[in-house]
Amino acid sequence: MEIIIQPDPAAASRLAARVIARLVRARPDAVLGLATGSTPLLLYRELIRLHQAGELDFRHVRTFNLDEYIGLAPDHPQSYHSFMWVNLFSHINIDPQNIRIPDGLASDIPAFCERYEDQIRAVGGIDLQVLGIGTDGHVGFNEPTSSLTSRTRIKTLTEQTRRDNARFFGSEANVPHHVITMGVGTVMDARECLLLAFGPAKAAAIAAAVEGPLSAMNPASMLQMHRVVKVFLDEPAATSLQRAAYYRWVYENKPEWQRL
Ligand code: F6R
Repeated sequence: MEIIIQPDPAAASRLAARVIARLVRARPDAVLGLATGSTPLLLYRELIRLHQAGELDFRHVRTFNLDEYIGLAPDHPQSYHSFMWVNLFSHINIDPQNIRIPDGLASDIPAFCERYEDQIRAVGGIDLQVLGIGTDGHVGFNEPTSSLTSRTRIKTLTEQTRRDNARFFGSEANVPHHVITMGVGTVMDARECLLLAFGPAKAAAIAAAVEGPLSAMNPASMLQMHRVVKVFLDEPAATSLQRAAYYRWVYENKPEWQRL
């Protein structure tokens, strides 16, 4: 794991965007795994800026989203379909045919989930997965006690996650209980992962994920077993890390060829 601590979310998001831009320039038909929520908003804004400046072409890029609420139609304002179109897709030249987002209205959810895994496999797997983290340590919507080898499936949100996400729905009562999410194992198959976390509310989950024991109680901790993970933090999200000084030194002293 490479831990990159930046002064603020904007600086961290710019660096993360640079990693994605580099990949897409090297491989124009790269397969990106995408997340929703507050965390990747600045990252997506930066990708849009690069595209609008003529520096990034998404024409051949393929995407798979991590998750979706069950029961929300794609055009529901709080669906992750809507989120992705509003915050990224409608501002870049991605081919809609190349976009995959779990279907919250799938009638046969297990069959849908199996097909989603097949579709990821059929394009050769995910090159780079963008991740946020829940205050309870979830990645995707793999809540604590999720199998660390799980695949795309239905999950039930914890009360904590429904409370955290109530801000999007007006009240907690309106937050769906069920979601479709890629599994921890699905995420682990991506060739590279970028985990972003900002703000003091993420500090404990980040410390447990990065420095804690590998545990299904913090599903993000499974990323310790991944070969290529970059963790982008702002200062408040880094406050509970015991080895922050070491991570800073490593980042500041990277050899030129390894710089972001
Ligand atoms: C969203 C997702 C979730 C979020 C997490 C953090 O697609 O998979 O794991 O990344 O709940 O959400 P925010 O960024 O809103 O704090």
